[in-house]
Amino acid sequence: MSGPRPCPVCVPDLLKMKQRGEKIAMLTAYDFPTARQLDAAGAEILLVGDSLGMVVLGYESTLPVTMDEMVHHTKAVVRGTQRALVVADMPYLSYHLTVRDAARNAGRFVQEAGAKAVKVEGGRKRVRAIRAIRDAEIPVMGHVGLTPQSVHEFGGFKIQGKSAAAARSILEDALALEEAGVFSVVLEGIPAELAGMITERLSIPTLGIGAGAACDGQVLVIHDLLGFTEGHVPSFVRKYAEVGATVREASRRFVEDVRGGSFPSEAESSHLKDEVLEEVRGGLGPAAKRQWRS
Ligand code: KIV
Repeated sequence: MSGPRPCPVCVPDLLKMKQRGEKIAMLTAYDFPTARQLDAAGAEILLVGDSLGMVVLGYESTLPVTMDEMVHHTKAVVRGTQRALVVADMPYLSYHLTVRDAARNAGRFVQEAGAKAVKVEGGRKRVRAIRAIRDAEIPVMGHVGLTPQSVHEFGGFKIQGKSAAAARSILEDALALEEAGVFSVVLEGIPAELAGMITERLSIPTLGIGAGAACDGQVLVIHDLLGFTEGHVPSFVRKYAEVGATVREASRRFVEDVRGGSFPSEAESSHLKDEVLEEVRGGLGPAAKRQWRS
């Protein structure tokens, strides 16, 4: 018998967690079976990140990811989630051009995919888009610091906010987002001291990734945490498993078993009853009968 249905996490719960000094755990998820596991593990937030483009779809950056791709994956994550708050990441160009685009695209995540909130990258520049989305009754998560959709402006995936002016600018961005009504803000790729100052100044929760321990919560890309990312993994990642190696080894053994004829075994096969076999054989021509003679 399954236990009582776990109580879903809502936006106001996250604010209460900050007030109580409880840390928030957020993970990215892109598909149904992974969402089920991460939800059961107790993560408060599942983010359908546009990191999807890099870790699942094989793009070199997040920039090619489309609304249709994000909606498709968000639907799968929502189907696999009972408790966590599912937040969908607004992809590049889905909120940059007009506030109407911003509200309409955010609305697709809620109406078509069943997400409860969306995430938008950028600071003061994004305040108008954020207000338009909130006017459509959709909670918004902010994201400042190393925002991957600005990779070409930054000249690569580099830590942001290292000079006094740059640090002040990120702090101003975070304050502007809070003023615009975001319910939380991701701090990515910034020095720990700056993340600590922002966390202290804001009344909404901060969620850090490569931003030190002072944030109100932490987020990691699930493929990095599981050891399922090929090649370079950022130094702030803690790997909890070696899923890539496990998948490769299991698949290698399958290939070996198929080639050697040990798969499938008798236990992995099903058989016709004798009388059915005879009846089938009876209906076959002489050539087929010869071929199926046991
Ligand atoms: O796209 C993503 O996965 C993200 C997280 C790293 C915060 O934005």
